[in-house]
Amino acid sequence: MNKAFATTIAWGLGLAVSAAATDAEPESGRQAFVRSLLGRMTLEEKIGQLNLPSVGLDVTGPVVSADVEAKIRRGEAGGVFNAYTPAVTRKLQDLAVKETRLGIPLLFGYDVIHGHKTIFPIPLGLSCSWDPTLIQRSARLAAVEAAADGLNWVFSPMVDIARDPRWGRIAEGSGEDPFLGSTMAAAMVRGYQGDDLARSNTVLACVKHFALYGAAEGGRDYNTVDMSRLKMFEYYLPPYQAAVAAGAGSVMTSFNEVDAIPASGNRWLVTDLLRGQWGFRGLVVSDYTSINEMVAHGTGELKQNVQLALKAGVDMDMVGEGYLRYAKALIAEGALPESVIEAACARVLTAKHQLGLFADPYRGCTEGRAREEIFTPAHRAAAREFAERSCVLLKNANETLPLKTTGVIALVGPLADRRRDLIGSWSAAGDWKQAVSVEEGIRNAAGPGLTILRARGANLIEEGALREALNASGGELEIDSRSREALVEEAVAVAGRAEVVVVVLGEAFGMSGEAASRSDIGLPEHQQELLRALVALGKPVVLVLMNGRPLTLTWEDAHCQAILETWFAGTEAGNAIAALLFGSANPSGKLTASFPRAVGQIPVYYNHKNTGRPYRGDPREKYLSRYLDIPNEPLYPFGYGLSYTTFECDPPRLSKTVLRGNDSLTATVKVSNTGRHPGRETVQLYITDPVASLTRSVLDLRGFQQVELRPGETREVVFTITPEQLKFFNRSLHYDWEPGEFIIRTGPDSAHLKSASVRWERP
Ligand code: NOJ
Repeated sequence: MNKAFATTIAWGLGLAVSAAATDAEPESGRQAFVRSLLGRMTLEEKIGQLNLPSVGLDVTGPVVSADVEAKIRRGEAGGVFNAYTPAVTRKLQDLAVKETRLGIPLLFGYDVIHGHKTIFPIPLGLSCSWDPTLIQRSARLAAVEAAADGLNWVFSPMVDIARDPRWGRIAEGSGEDPFLGSTMAAAMVRGYQGDDLARSNTVLACVKHFALYGAAEGGRDYNTVDMSRLKMFEYYLPPYQAAVAAGAGSVMTSFNEVDAIPASGNRWLVTDLLRGQWGFRGLVVSDYTSINEMVAHGTGELKQNVQLALKAGVDMDMVGEGYLRYAKALIAEGALPESVIEAACARVLTAKHQLGLFADPYRGCTEGRAREEIFTPAHRAAAREFAERSCVLLKNANETLPLKTTGVIALVGPLADRRRDLIGSWSAAGDWKQAVSVEEGIRNAAGPGLTILRARGANLIEEGALREALNASGGELEIDSRSREALVEEAVAVAGRAEVVVVVLGEAFGMSGEAASRSDIGLPEHQQELLRALVALGKPVVLVLMNGRPLTLTWEDAHCQAILETWFAGTEAGNAIAALLFGSANPSGKLTASFPRAVGQIPVYYNHKNTGRPYRGDPREKYLSRYLDIPNEPLYPFGYGLSYTTFECDPPRLSKTVLRGNDSLTATVKVSNTGRHPGRETVQLYITDPVASLTRSVLDLRGFQQVELRPGETREVVFTITPEQLKFFNRSLHYDWEPGEFIIRTGPDSAHLKSASVRWERP
């Protein structure tokens, strides 16, 4: 306790000039190695290095790679993905190093997104910890397990900004804010890659999906994206750039188009911006058959798209095999210079060299090491800690939580004993059978004085077609064949005998994640029916939610005494949730994506622009920007989350109110724990630039710090503010600040801020 820690991030990377080596720099040992190897390779071998087939069952597109082993033998694969375990990767690596002419080792990629075998909360949940140190640790542990399991490349972090919770992949990222998203992106890269990629417990990170994938129209996955350059630079691109600046070794292109050109064939995006302006020197891989899918986008036949993708600077072709089929012919026809293949191949070989694969293609992977380093008690303990830190307490009327450890509780709801859903989507190598359900967690935590009554109350999914679709992708959804009414009746009878009702509701894990968009983001109707019947009993109802996206919870908020958002909290979910329910842990998570009141409000996000007719709160005023039926504000705002204790944040105390040029100032915020429990508060710093040459957001997050306080304790957190935090992209996409007034706002969330203002002049 008593520990205050700050997040540090070089915000405002802007259009950083390349840190790349120039021609004048002496050639490094690595460059010399790669040059000499390239010199010995045939064109076919070079093209082979650009092919990335998938093996195994984790297929995420309609096309599946065939004859992968034969391709490896023929030198037609630079890596494979979806192959793991020391035995399998060793077998495939043997083919590459022992049976091909030059013995070039393979990359082994995999979707390690929130843990490898020990599964942590989904990334949206992890981001609610607002703790980059924790996020970095989670990536480090994932890397240790992945590397011990034969992998050397993870398709993470996913850093797409998402303002639309209909989009199922909001689950995979850090929410709606570019500053927070950048902080988390950099932390994950550091966690995966460590200080030295050549160490055998590190993995190459892959920043995805470049770019703007989170802005799919209507929240429908893979849908088109269209936005101004200003919006891109200001709100959507910063996390990718932060990940690149943190040293990410690879980048994956996205399925969507950018400026009407599919990302996988977009030279401006991949070469001019990523490599040119941002100085990225690593390798770029397409998403799963995204080059082939350009045909459906309408940019021509596959051959033309291969040409576009290679010219754009996309080095590896994931699953699609267009490079294998057409690159050689394009060169023969003079439609593509061989130097493009040469450069792409050099980047693949460089990554392999960085990973130490030429020195040890197996990176010390053995069955013994895998047994020792994967799914250890320490990793499980970390999973529990991360889960506790990811949950967000949305409501707690009359201090309903924490629960007493004596008396009678009714544990109701279809998710209370589920384990499959807890590890969420993209938990590819995770074993859901190892996950701890909420019921198990509660039974582990409960003492002899607590009686737990249990009823299912509803099926998780009622609609047969949806259940079937989810089961086709491993949903493991069974159905209780009793009628809806009978299930509810039983639950009401059980709840009637209890003092408090804990009801665990939400989504099946497959209702969020890839290809899992929803147009209605409320609880499923039959689950709502159950909840209404329980609420009608008049007993305190604690709603424990599991879901991969913000939900619409207006009725639930009005009628449940307490609501705990737990996302899909991973292997140790049940123990973590029980600790929070009984108060041996205190919730401290804060939302990183706004919860809309209704789908019609989407997109609703905190850093919006003002209108010329802002609503002032008087419904009789007609011609203002508002809905007739609901408020403009979300139900739960960005940055929001309660604790079992209460905190008070004083207004920021500024060290100066008039500044010049590169001056800096401090904003000091006194935070007190005014409640009865020790707890952690995240103090957030936002800046408003009320007058500028371009309209600005009403607020922009520019810092946050966490402080742990005992009851009655007061501490000060100090933010240093420099002109860097005032910068924005102006009309010429130049990243700079403009003199004038700035409002410094601080507080516990984006809707409860206290402010002070400063004038900042040019020198
Ligand atoms: C498609 C997804 O968009 C991407 O995130 C993932 O890494 C690849 N499939 C590989 O599984």
